[in-house]
Amino acid sequence: MEIAGSVALVTGANRGLGRAYARELVSRGAARVLGGARDPGQVTEPGVVPVALDITDPRRVGDVAAECADVSLLVNNAGVMRASTFIDAPSPAAAREEMETNYFGTLSMCRAFAPVLAANGGGAIVNMLSVTSFYTNPFNASYGASKAAAWSLTNGVRLELHHQGTLVVAVHAGFIDTDMAALVDVPKVSPESVATMVFDAVEAGQTEVLADERTRTVKAALPRDQELIYPPVQEFWDAAVQGSH
Ligand SMILES: NC(=O)c1ccc[n+]([C@@H]2O[C@H](COP(=O)([O-])OP(=O)(O)OC[C@H]3O[C@@H](n4cnc5c(N)ncnc54)[C@H](OP(=O)(O)O)[C@@H]3O)[C@@H](O)[C@H]2O)c1
Repeated sequence: MEIAGSVALVTGANRGLGRAYARELVSRGAARVLGGARDPGQVTEPGVVPVALDITDPRRVGDVAAECADVSLLVNNAGVMRASTFIDAPSPAAAREEMETNYFGTLSMCRAFAPVLAANGGGAIVNMLSVTSFYTNPFNASYGASKAAAWSLTNGVRLELHHQGTLVVAVHAGFIDTDMAALVDVPKVSPESVATMVFDAVEAGQTEVLADERTRTVKAALPRDQELIYPPVQEFWDAAVQGSH
């Protein structure tokens, strides 16, 4: 789809990758860029219109879909990562919050905006997923579960909205240089580079973006995940557990 002249809504547009998405949409000539945020006062990117939007609030999601009836490009970027294990976490609270935001929040946005996109010629949905959609790492285990669920959601929504001509793009990435990855000292790609790849894909009609080398390697290794992906993760985690005792 053409981004120039389109009306786009980005969730979580106040910082990090969402802010980079919004900036890139403005620079590609979108007619209007709506920046969804829990605190719209934090949406300060020039040319971006702030919209109060907590994606875990279904009533507000419905109201925004009604108020923003001209949207043709929906970027589901908002997400949380609580660095939580399955077993040793003090409670399943982090797992629930990640699922509520990353899966149910994204589902809620897709459901609310599907008819809006249909009315505007089909348009596109971009869902921000992760390399952890493909495999589990105990470092952020329950986050991975929520992104795996969101990957499944993305593939299903693509099938269900094909008849109305909506392009549904899955974006998988390893570490991106934002607040979410601030805790880890590893190579990270820039949010700007991800935004460029994603909107190139939208304009080319592609359904998947693998935003860095690690993500491409992991996806290619999936048929042999027990041999190629999990042994090094296990080794790393066993060393981390031993170091903490
Ligand atoms: N950084 C990485 O390494 C990485 C890698 C792969 C995928 N991702 C994904 O990329 C997306 C953007 O993350 P980021 O790196 O930019 O992280 P970030 O800097 O932590 O930003 C997260 C954004 O999501 C918003 N958000 C969280 N819960 C929300 C809710 N219920 N309703 C509306 N907005 C909400 C946050 O708003 P507040 O300011 O109100 O908290 C913030 O704007 C996420 O989906 C994340 O899972 C990130």
